[in-house]
Amino acid sequence: MAWNTIDRNEPVVDADASPVLSEAVCEKIKTFFPKYPTKRAVLLPALHIIQHEQGHVSWQAMIEVAELLEIKPSDVFDTISFYTHFWTKPQGEKVVTVCRSISCELLGGREVLAACKEHLGIGEHQTTPDGKYSLAVEECLAGCDHAPCLIINERMHKRVKPEQVPALLADAGNADHGLPRSDLFDPPVATNGSDEDVIDATSDVAEMKDSN
Ligand code: FES
Repeated sequence: MAWNTIDRNEPVVDADASPVLSEAVCEKIKTFFPKYPTKRAVLLPALHIIQHEQGHVSWQAMIEVAELLEIKPSDVFDTISFYTHFWTKPQGEKVVTVCRSISCELLGGREVLAACKEHLGIGEHQTTPDGKYSLAVEECLAGCDHAPCLIINERMHKRVKPEQVPALLADAGNADHGLPRSDLFDPPVATNGSDEDVIDATSDVAEMKDSN
């Protein structure tokens, strides 16, 4: 599989821009500080919180979270640019994420991706002009035994054939999974301070996988 390089570096930073991180978001990020050895180590949870709240991590948000974590904005961008999960510009209402790892690749993932590109009229990490759909590719989506797979928002679609893509994208319910949104990136909560009481929010994710 050849690497496909996408340059997502289109920085537009206004020196007079108003802050974009709300006090609530900053406070939520700070609740992670006691759980990590350094503020820098809170960067990934912080980015998840920001993207969860705002849909993407803007250049201004990168500057502000860098200040909060006492690191350089370039350190924040280094991390964001490594993970395709993070978006530096607004995503569509639904994000179609196609797997590009080996099992899916061998079983037609490349053709599924091509069908998504053709039907949506956009490339990887782009959004349709009407803001309805964005398209992304990621490594293994943990559904290898049902390859080729794609995820629309948080709903997994298994054994997708290229010819099914138009109907799949036209289905208004294609992102519904019937479960509450994962609390995975909410701050850890303990009822009496013991480790046993820390909420295991990953159970939501397990339930979602079981339901597919
Ligand atoms: S290789 Fe596609 S889900 Fe694992």
